[in-house]
Amino acid sequence: MVSEEVKRIRKEVKKHHKLMKESIPLIASENLLSPLAKEMLISDFSHRYAEGEPGKRYYQGCRYIDEVEVEATNLAKEMFNADFADVRPISGVLANLSAFFGLFESGDKLMSLSVPDGGHISHRKHSAAGLREFDINKIPFDKEKLNIKVEKTLEKIKKIEPDLILLGGSVFLFPHPIEKIKGTAEDVGAKIIYDGAHVLGLIAGGKFQDPLREGADLVTGSTHKTFPGPQGGLIYGSSKYEEKIKETIFPGLVSNHHLHHVAALGVTLGEMKYFAEDYATQIIDNAKALAENLYNKGLDVMGKQNGFTSSHQVLVDVSRFDSGRKVANKLEEANIIVNRNLIPSDKVGETESGIRLGVQELTRLGMEEEEMKMLSKWIADLVMEKTEQDKIKEKVIELKESFNDLHYCYEGKRANPYKYIDLVNK
Ligand SMILES: Cc1ncc(COP(=O)(O)O)c(C=O)c1O
Repeated sequence: MVSEEVKRIRKEVKKHHKLMKESIPLIASENLLSPLAKEMLISDFSHRYAEGEPGKRYYQGCRYIDEVEVEATNLAKEMFNADFADVRPISGVLANLSAFFGLFESGDKLMSLSVPDGGHISHRKHSAAGLREFDINKIPFDKEKLNIKVEKTLEKIKKIEPDLILLGGSVFLFPHPIEKIKGTAEDVGAKIIYDGAHVLGLIAGGKFQDPLREGADLVTGSTHKTFPGPQGGLIYGSSKYEEKIKETIFPGLVSNHHLHHVAALGVTLGEMKYFAEDYATQIIDNAKALAENLYNKGLDVMGKQNGFTSSHQVLVDVSRFDSGRKVANKLEEANIIVNRNLIPSDKVGETESGIRLGVQELTRLGMEEEEMKMLSKWIADLVMEKTEQDKIKEKVIELKESFNDLHYCYEGKRANPYKYIDLVNK
């Protein structure tokens, strides 16, 4: 007998599956797992503990878990051409925290982007960086070019002599100028940490930038945004930081890391070895196509000077029409799922003027420039209130029906990515 509460939960989850199946997902931080990676999530690894490191566990029964973790770690090192990688952080924020607590002290000076300029909350005072009690300073940002102001940043580095310069962000349209900052950072003894949470899949495909080769000391990231793995975190970089980062992760930040996620990450890394380049290329082509088409249809797509985007993201200032929140709600009524976002002219805590769109999930489903064009018309019509939500919603559902296979992975045709897997049949 299944209780009413359990029935309710299952029902809501099933409803969610239907919603996603019938929607255009444009949240820039989400993705879909391949069938082989998904299989890992329901394996027995999800039940187990393996505190510590392979070969040095505090629990018995870990011999196969050890093999998998070593394999996943080696694949990460190979993919990102790094001497050291750790696959245990259970999220991108934990990967950031492992760097913050492993290599820095309370009161150390941090330079990072403000949230309206694209920085993640974990880079600023109300979250991880604040918890570490950093003295937090802003990286000067060009609000037109949507990238770091190099000269002003170099001046500021010389003036305040930071301990840590944190690059990368949540709105991340163009590669950051690591090489131009590196020399001055070194002169004042600052380390560069690059938060690649959003762009990890593009880095894997060699299509955005290569932060380590360009001068970052460490790279942190989420494993589930453009990198199409399980939800989790990753840190990689020079082996000179290995010991400190490892002991910060365990026992500092995780006791048991999520072993089924490690297995799924290993599988995704193995798949991405073969598919990442094509995947990243198509993501960027799609983002550019979406941006250009939205712009041509009359929306204020940001970053025009630099070709709108070089990543998976498109940022649109919708303030001429409504608030970001109202526009995102309007799009949701038509099953187009986006998030409202601060843009550089906004202030933290105020109404968001923008919406952020990410094309990595649609690309994974095999959509290309033609679909981006179609989609841009629907979005522009909805934002400019040229049409009813219901009419577009029907078209969205119809389009989505023809995109039910996964691409850029093995066994994608069997994926049926939005299908609810009913193990009980009740
Ligand atoms: C730049 C950046 N860093 C870190 C994170 C946090 O990642 P996670 O949700 O995996 O903790 C995000 C999340 O969106 C992000 O945008």
